[in-house]
Amino acid sequence: MGKFQVMDHPLIQHKLTIIRNKNCGTKVFREVVDEITTLMAYDVARDMPLEDVEIETPIAKMTAKTLSGKKVAVVPILRAGIGMVDGILKLIPAAKVGHIGMYRDEETLEPHEYFVKLPADIEQRQVFVVDPMLATGGSAIMAIDALKKRGATNIKFVCLVSAPEGVKALREKHPDVDIYAAALDDHLNEDGYIVPGLGDAGDRLFGTK
Ligand code: PRP
Ligand code: URA
Repeated sequence: MGKFQVMDHPLIQHKLTIIRNKNCGTKVFREVVDEITTLMAYDVARDMPLEDVEIETPIAKMTAKTLSGKKVAVVPILRAGIGMVDGILKLIPAAKVGHIGMYRDEETLEPHEYFVKLPADIEQRQVFVVDPMLATGGSAIMAIDALKKRGATNIKFVCLVSAPEGVKALREKHPDVDIYAAALDDHLNEDGYIVPGLGDAGDRLFGTK
């Protein structure tokens, strides 16, 4: 079973409080989502494999460490996942970026896939799927289905706010996928929103509605 990790570093908790506040405007919301994602990426990348390289410092030759193994693809679930891409690219600038378009039917809460464009060598990459919200889990499950259908095998899911219902559903459907969240909230309300959550992440990031 993949791990479920809540990344509750004080800086992350502090910044999450800023964006949960309903008075936080679009500009600050966007900036702080980016900052939280970078803080999370540092730890999500903790088990990236290293290899030895021979280099010369100004003083001596040495055997030093460099990243090896699988290359990275960052895959945001549109729209809201876009807000988390740059935060990861700051630390892993050579990563390729795929996109999966997914929206939730507001009545049924069922996810609908409308766009998939991935790096051609996705099966060789460590994939970081990003989306600020893990609510029912439907969007994340369908996005990971789409990735696996195209050959991806090494997948981590990174979100900001998660609900117990979504964590359970995602772990049941994709037990091989590690899940990282900045918070585990209380429950979903009757409209499928996370309580207390932060509202509609896409609308708050892009200033819509
Ligand atoms: C939001 C969010 C997730 C999804 C989570 O997207 O960004 O993708 O809902 O809900 P779930 O776990 O119940 O599937 P939304 O469908 O509102 O689309 P948007 O990003 O375009 O606003
Ligand atoms: N999608 C959001 O953007 N927010 C929620 O609380 C649930 C799903």
